[in-house]
Amino acid sequence: MLSKNYPKNYQSIPSPCYVLEEEKLEKNLKLLQRVEKESGAKVLLALKGYALWRSFPLAREYLSGITASGIYEAKLGYEEFQKEVSVFSPAYKKEEIIELVKISNHIIFNSFLQWQTYKDYILEENKQREVQKRAKIEIGLRVNPQYSEVTPAIYNPCIEGSRLGINKEEFQKGVEKYGLEGISGLHFHTHCEQNSDALKRTLKHFVKHFGEFIPQMQWINFGGGHHITREDYDVELLIKIIKKFNKTYHKQVYLEPGEAIGWQTGFLIGSVVDIVKNGIDIALLDVSAAAHMPDCLEMPYRPMVRNSFFAKAQTKHKQLQLKSEAKYAYRLGGPTCLAGDVIGDYGFEEELKIGDRIIFEDMIHYTIVKNNTFNGVPLPSIGIIRKNGEFELLKSFSYEDYKYRNS
Ligand SMILES: Cc1ncc(COP(=O)(O)O)c(C=O)c1O
Repeated sequence: MLSKNYPKNYQSIPSPCYVLEEEKLEKNLKLLQRVEKESGAKVLLALKGYALWRSFPLAREYLSGITASGIYEAKLGYEEFQKEVSVFSPAYKKEEIIELVKISNHIIFNSFLQWQTYKDYILEENKQREVQKRAKIEIGLRVNPQYSEVTPAIYNPCIEGSRLGINKEEFQKGVEKYGLEGISGLHFHTHCEQNSDALKRTLKHFVKHFGEFIPQMQWINFGGGHHITREDYDVELLIKIIKKFNKTYHKQVYLEPGEAIGWQTGFLIGSVVDIVKNGIDIALLDVSAAAHMPDCLEMPYRPMVRNSFFAKAQTKHKQLQLKSEAKYAYRLGGPTCLAGDVIGDYGFEEELKIGDRIIFEDMIHYTIVKNNTFNGVPLPSIGIIRKNGEFELLKSFSYEDYKYRNS
């Protein structure tokens, strides 16, 4: 029934499977590269949102490097992206820093204390790099501009009592105690799926609180959460904001989006395993909201299903309404024991049958990086539709992947 917009060899896609569409990824990358070229900013791919490294040979043609949340992402970026590696972690352990100094270009600290604790490792590494004529590690501090428009609160790094970023008062104290010698950059991250007007407003707060320190820096990192590749994103305004900032301060600006790289670049395909009735029609799938698309429950949001439409609420009444709008209505749910492992109610023009394929759109960012094997549910495979329209299977998971994660 779901025959539209499939790759040529669609039947060879296993179920379930995350499928990246190379052409769509390249479209995003081209836009991000235009932002780099026209604004002068460097764009780093945030691996926390998108780490499908078999696509890095393509991504590295367009972007300046990666940003990592810690040692594993930094290693992956160093090995597979092979361009700039920036890392920010709320708190580094000594053994992580010992490895990170070997592979990082920027190390960004969340406190003066962490910077002071690891300063000697960095100075020592930089001495060696000087002899080897390699670029030195540059140090940044993450600040908290105490302004963010992000909701819900779980995604807002500027909520009261936030552990992310040094606030103005603590920054002043840190400067008085330790000075800023050895610090090359400031970093703030306050966005999540936002447009460039939010950056314009946020920048004012950053400048108000930390503007006096900008002249001593070489770069300013504007963090991630810029939804640059979304259709309604105002790219021209972003470029204008960065150019204006540069005209005043003459600093290298960095952006580190994750979601904008993987935005609308592919889908998660699953199948109908059973259909049951409990006042409403319920299709049990081999994909799970809890295990394979956790943001559906965490954000929460409801993904689009190809060739369907959905009701606004999860009530029986709404499903009845769906039935009057479409011919058939189903609640789509996963195979775990979690009662709330439900993706939503959707209307279809044709009756669902066991074995039918269901396609959840826009499932490439913050899914593969976050999925889990709750209930021992198998992990979806990962594949790519190449630019020539052919599907290529990149990775399948087995019982061993589940077993050895558990001990
Ligand atoms: C420090 C930092 N940089 C970059 C990002 C990437 O954000 P996004 O994927 O929303 O663009 C995040 C996301 O949480 C972050 O915490």
